Amino acid sequence: MSLQGRLAFITGAGSGIGRATCQCLAREGATIVAADQNFPKVQETLKLLNPQEKHSAMSLSVENKHNIQEVLNNIIKTYLKPPSIVVNAAGITRDNFLQKLSDADFAQVLDVNLKGTFFVLQTFANSLVEHKINEASIINIGSIVAKFGNIGQANYCASKAGVEAMTKVAAKEYGSLGIRVNTIIPGMIVTPMTAAVPEKVMNKFKAMIPLGRFGLPEEVAEVITFLASTKSSYINGASIEVTGGF
Ligand SMILES: NC(=O)c1ccc[n+]([C@@H]2O[C@H](COP(=O)([O-])OP(=O)(O)OC[C@H]3O[C@@H](n4cnc5c(N)ncnc54)[C@H](O)[C@@H]3O)[C@@H](O)[C@H]2O)c1
Repeated sequence: MSLQGRLAFITGAGSGIGRATCQCLAREGATIVAADQNFPKVQETLKLLNPQEKHSAMSLSVENKHNIQEVLNNIIKTYLKPPSIVVNAAGITRDNFLQKLSDADFAQVLDVNLKGTFFVLQTFANSLVEHKINEASIINIGSIVAKFGNIGQANYCASKAGVEAMTKVAAKEYGSLGIRVNTIIPGMIVTPMTAAVPEKVMNKFKAMIPLGRFGLPEEVAEVITFLASTKSSYINGASIEVTGGF
């Protein structure tokens, strides 16, 4: 699954699934531009990649369109082309019951998870079109809870359902231009995001997973890497579950 010569841009690269994706894509030969709003954490990610000099770490807030354009401009200045692999792994939760969910927590989750994915998708895909790069793959991250609903996550479920629907539209619009766009639907994956979920709730989830365990970020990263590669050349607009059968 060689990704030699491919440039990959990953948001949320300072932690969890984003970090594991950087490692997996780099292992297959891609050059990594790792971006996160937490710059010290994304610098830590960079240190895990070999040879370090080939890759870059950038500070980025995905809800800030201007910042995204600046980052893309920097990438093109450094690497002379836009990335042909884009992974939208930045995401947040602000859980609360609907009875108490504040406007601010609703808006923030939509801003980062859905609007942030939209901004990155649109900015990077349009640049690929402009540069006439017609073999590219964009991978967005939804969530299995968007399919079933999950108590305390009205904002998060809505944002992830939006990501999945938007991805299907993007696949239709950009497909004829050689840009495939797909959604990965993780189940419960062991990362700092799920570390915040109470143990009682995690145990309830575990009982519903046929494989009897939570997933690892690397197990999601491997599927993202497959979607990034030409091995998945006929997969476009798909939602691929990585849930242990949840
Ligand atoms: N862990 C799971 O079980 C699970 C399940 C389904 C979906 N997901 C999704 O997978 C993605 C990665 O999640 P994770 O579990 O690795 O979480 P994580 O908390 O470990 O990592 C998320 C990263 O995103 C970064 N980030 C947050 N807001 C940002 C912003 N505005 N701009 C740029 N970076 C920002 C954080 O700094 C962090 O490094 C998220 O979209 C999440 O919703 C995770």
